[in-house]
Amino acid sequence: MSVYISGTGLFTPKEFITNEELVESFNSYVENFNQENKNLIEEGEVEPLTPSSPEFIKKASGIERRYVQDKEGILDLSRMRPKLKERGNDEISIMAEMAIDASIKALSEANLEASDIDAVICGCANLQRAYPALAIEIQKELKISGYAYDMNVACSSATFSIQNAFNDIQSGVADRVLVVNPEICSGHLNFRDRDAHFIFGDACTAVVLEKNSENKKAFKILGTKLQTKFSNNIRNNFGFLNTSEDSDPHAADKLFIQKGRSVFKEVVPMVQAHINDHLQSLDLSTDKIKRLWLHQANLSMNQLIAKKLLGREPLKEEMPIILNEYANTSSAGSIIAFHKYKEDFLSDDIGVISSFGAGYSVGSVVIQKV
Ligand code: COA
Repeated sequence: MSVYISGTGLFTPKEFITNEELVESFNSYVENFNQENKNLIEEGEVEPLTPSSPEFIKKASGIERRYVQDKEGILDLSRMRPKLKERGNDEISIMAEMAIDASIKALSEANLEASDIDAVICGCANLQRAYPALAIEIQKELKISGYAYDMNVACSSATFSIQNAFNDIQSGVADRVLVVNPEICSGHLNFRDRDAHFIFGDACTAVVLEKNSENKKAFKILGTKLQTKFSNNIRNNFGFLNTSEDSDPHAADKLFIQKGRSVFKEVVPMVQAHINDHLQSLDLSTDKIKRLWLHQANLSMNQLIAKKLLGREPLKEEMPIILNEYANTSSAGSIIAFHKYKEDFLSDDIGVISSFGAGYSVGSVVIQKV
C-alpha cells in the first residue's frame, strides 16, 4: 500500500525581528553590563562582554531575520525573552493555536475535512507542558476522532513523526494522519548569549498523510529513514526534575546551548552519509533528485551537504533556503522549505526532505510527485 503527503500548511507569526534590531538590543545589554561591572572588570574579577554584529550573523549563519510570537519582550532589555500571557486551562494553548492554523491550511490543500483524519501526531523540540498532550488538545479543537500523541526528537521531530504516520497508515491503524510541528524556539533561546542569540525563530507546520490519495498535487512517500547518535554538543537541561534537584532555573544550561562549530563538523558528514544510504537502499542515484528540502539551521551547512551529495555546487532551486527569513525554526524548517518550494514539481519528480539536529538525530523522507 502507498502512503501520500497530500497537503501542507504553514503558520507564520505576525511579528519579526531583523538582525539589526536584535543586535542593537544585545549590544545595549553588553554596554550596560560592562558599565555596571566596570570596577570588577578592571580588577579582573569579571570578564567583559563582547558586542554582536549583524554582519557576523548573516555571514556565519545566513540568517537575516526571524518571526517571533512576541517581539517586545525579546527586545526589552529588562527581560530579553518573549512575554507570553499564561492561559487558563479552559483556553486554547498558544502552541495548539498555531498548530490549528497550520492544520486548517494543510487540510484545505489536501481537500479534506478534519473529520476525515484518524490520528494527530504533534512533533516538536519544545512542548509547552507535560500533559495533557498538545496533540489531544488539537484533536479536540478540530473534532477529530481516533488517537493523538506528542513526541520530541528536537529538530528532527517532523521527519520522525512523518515516519510514525507512514507506519500507522501502512499497518492499517489509520487511513489519514495529521502531523503538526509547532515551534516557539524564542522561548528556549538565551538572548543574552552572543554565540546563539540570533539562531532561532518561531513557526508551525502541518502535513497531511493518507493512503491512496486521489489528489493530483500529492507526493508519494518512497521511503523514510531515521538515525540517532548520542552527542552532548546540543543540549537543553530544562526538565521536570530541575526543582527536585534544586538546580538554578536561570542557569544557561536550562535553555538551548551548543558547540556550534563541532555540530557543523560532525553533523554534515552524518547527514550526507544518511541521505546517500537512504537513496541507495531505494535504488536511486543523486542525479534523480530534483530537490533537497533540508533542515534550516545554517546556510553553509546546507550548501556543504548538498555539494557533497551532488558532487558539485547545488543550484538555488535544488536546495531552497528559507532560514534567511525564518532563522532556525527547529522541526518546522525543512517542512517550511517543502511547503514553499513544491509547486513546480512535475509528475514523477523526486525530492528528499531531511532534518537533523540535537540528539544527534537525522531523518529523511524520499517523495515522488504523483
Ligand atoms: N557577533 C560577532 N562575532 C561573533 C558572534 C556574534 N554574535 N558570535 C561569535 N562570534 C565570533 C566568535 O567570538 C569567534 O571569534 P574568534 O574567531 O575571534 O574567536 C568567531 O565569531 C567564530 O565563532 P564560531 O562560534 O566558531 O562561529 P561559527 O562560524 O562556527 O558560526 C554558528 C557559529 C552557530 C552560526 C555555526 O557554528 C552553526 O550554525 N553551527 C551549526 C549549528 C547547528 O546546526 N545547530 C543545530 C541546532 S538545532
